[in-house]
Amino acid sequence: MNKKIAVIKGDGIGPEIVTEAMKVLDKVAAKFGHTFEYDQLLLGGCSIDAYGEPLTDETIARCKASDAVLMGSIGGDTNTSPWYKLPANLRPEAGLLKIRKELGLFANLRPCLLYPQLSGACPLKEEISAKGFDMLIMRELTGGLYFGARKTEEVDGVMTAVDTLSYNENEIRRIAIKAFEVAMKRRKKVTSVDKANVLDSSRLWRKVVNEVSKDYPEVTLEHMLVDNSAMQLVRDPAQFDVMVTENMFGDILSDEASMITGSIGMLPSASMNETKLGLYEPSGGSAPDIAGQNKANPIATILSAAMMLRYSFDMTEEADAVEAAVEKALDDGLRTGDIMAEGCVKLSCSEMGTAIADRI
Ligand code: IPM
Ligand code: MG
Repeated sequence: MNKKIAVIKGDGIGPEIVTEAMKVLDKVAAKFGHTFEYDQLLLGGCSIDAYGEPLTDETIARCKASDAVLMGSIGGDTNTSPWYKLPANLRPEAGLLKIRKELGLFANLRPCLLYPQLSGACPLKEEISAKGFDMLIMRELTGGLYFGARKTEEVDGVMTAVDTLSYNENEIRRIAIKAFEVAMKRRKKVTSVDKANVLDSSRLWRKVVNEVSKDYPEVTLEHMLVDNSAMQLVRDPAQFDVMVTENMFGDILSDEASMITGSIGMLPSASMNETKLGLYEPSGGSAPDIAGQNKANPIATILSAAMMLRYSFDMTEEADAVEAAVEKALDDGLRTGDIMAEGCVKLSCSEMGTAIADRI
């Protein structure tokens, strides 16, 4: 198959980790007889430096003309980078939110699983980590507080800021359907996370999720309040299969979930719309403190590329091969610094990419 991939290396460690994912994709292409054509584009801080804005119309158009988008990370140090002196709508993150909206990527899949090889890196008590866990956070990505009206103004002499949390039933229904569909291919359990004891948007969320669940009688549905969910994630993460939630809750809970896997450097993500065009990126940030040092963990990006093969290209065997190669590298005791353990071999970012490509 011939596929066109828009590649956004981005800022910070982005270029290093995406280069390794491309190395792995090239190996997949050679082994399985595919052609992957890369269209390299700028988004975030590097786009601000080159074009004066974090995302250009040209970049949006070229992403739309691709079969999938593979992305590294964007943004810099918010305390020191000149990008954060710009108005909010011209900062790196504004580009990321805009591409999500432009491509209609309403469903963000963040799988969090504890690899047995890395259970020592899990910060939870051994009696909890020993049980392992394998969950998928399905985060709504184009609604809620991130995209509601906002303003900062003086009201009766007092500075006042407003952000709006709004969802309509259609937005809730389509993400709920995605969650149940994915659950059908997993352990058939959906935990819907909300704050229905306080928020109207959560009460509507709960009502619509209940309606959708009627079409999936095989799937067990439970509702959980977001504060309790934060607690349950560290108390008993094994209880979760698919967790579906709104944008902001999902942002926060997915960082918490990533931490208990040992390193955010292990977590891929896929952002999808109703078509096959998805955007694939590691869940972690641009880590400006270690950028350019060839020591970042490329595994999250490599696993994101595997998700791209699986969901956008329907290349199941190829995706399995990439995931198996990652496991093999871990089995062989190969580690980057963030997941290093006694008795293992510490590799650089590029060495890890090569090691995984070699195992395909
Ligand atoms: C994420 C990130 C982004 C978000 C930031 C960079 C805007 O934290 O993808 O989780 O909040 O969605
Ligand atoms: Mg986040």
